[in-house]
Amino acid sequence: MSDALLDVTISAREEQGSGVAVFELTSVSGEALPQYAAGAHIDVHVNQELIRQYSLCTRPNDEGKYRIGILNDPNSRGGSREIHADFEVGKQLSISSPRNHFPLETVATRTILAGGGIGITPLIAMAYELQARNQDFELHYCARTRGAGAFVEELQASFPENVIFHYDDEEKSQLFSPAVALGPCDEGTHIYVCGPSGFMDWVIAGAKELGYPSAQVHFEYFSAEVDSSGASFEVHCVKSDVTLVVEEQQSIVKALAAAGVKVDVSCEEGVCGTCITDVLEGEPDHRDHFLTDEEKADNDQMALCCSRAKSARLVIDI
Ligand code: FES
Repeated sequence: MSDALLDVTISAREEQGSGVAVFELTSVSGEALPQYAAGAHIDVHVNQELIRQYSLCTRPNDEGKYRIGILNDPNSRGGSREIHADFEVGKQLSISSPRNHFPLETVATRTILAGGGIGITPLIAMAYELQARNQDFELHYCARTRGAGAFVEELQASFPENVIFHYDDEEKSQLFSPAVALGPCDEGTHIYVCGPSGFMDWVIAGAKELGYPSAQVHFEYFSAEVDSSGASFEVHCVKSDVTLVVEEQQSIVKALAAAGVKVDVSCEEGVCGTCITDVLEGEPDHRDHFLTDEEKADNDQMALCCSRAKSARLVIDI
């Protein structure tokens, strides 16, 4: 996919569940928007300074358009609040082409999709794709209450045999349990998890306890707490020829900005991958939710917005 931005118009907006706005995006030129595979997201340029990522959840019959669902998150750092307040039908926006860090495996014989709250959005696209491929899948949708969940009627109508709803305030038997939902590990089962970070940590830990190898457990965090504790360390930037100290409670990105070295960032929480940079020397202290365990073990790249250093000095390729 090219890095060129796409100009789109909001062609529909619908409020669903508790505080979710569902937007349909149509190309300003009238051409069909680029195709994408389930699990992809787009960057939405909320304003000149703010870029946020949202998963695409377009239905098969929305051909040429995109659909995103955005929760008005009270803990938002501004993105979702501004979108809910200002994004009305007819507004034009810039978005990126779709990027996919959360693709479906083609080898699975059985797929379990586990979504918490607004984390259901990429899983909706996956459910449509699995249905089109005629592959076996279960879609578990966890929400606080029946009224809080978005897309409920659509999921019920589209996947009556596959969707299982779990509402926190209803009968205990309905509550989501990783052990029950995922079942014993077999090599054909792949698990996809998206939702609030606590939910995801719980499901991923449950899958590990059941013996699922990390290659069969796929996830995409859309927000995360950043732990910026830890001692100061030195960073040398090879291309910019700048050496600086990253202080306690300071991110590498902020320290670089203070020294005049600009790094592209988006989420600033270690979930989107925008700031991933090659590491040439030293040992990162990985704190992101983007790199895989294997990539972290290689120690040759890191997320500059949230990760720190285990070694006294890092040399990075920027
Ligand atoms: S800006 Fe998103 S991972 Fe660093």
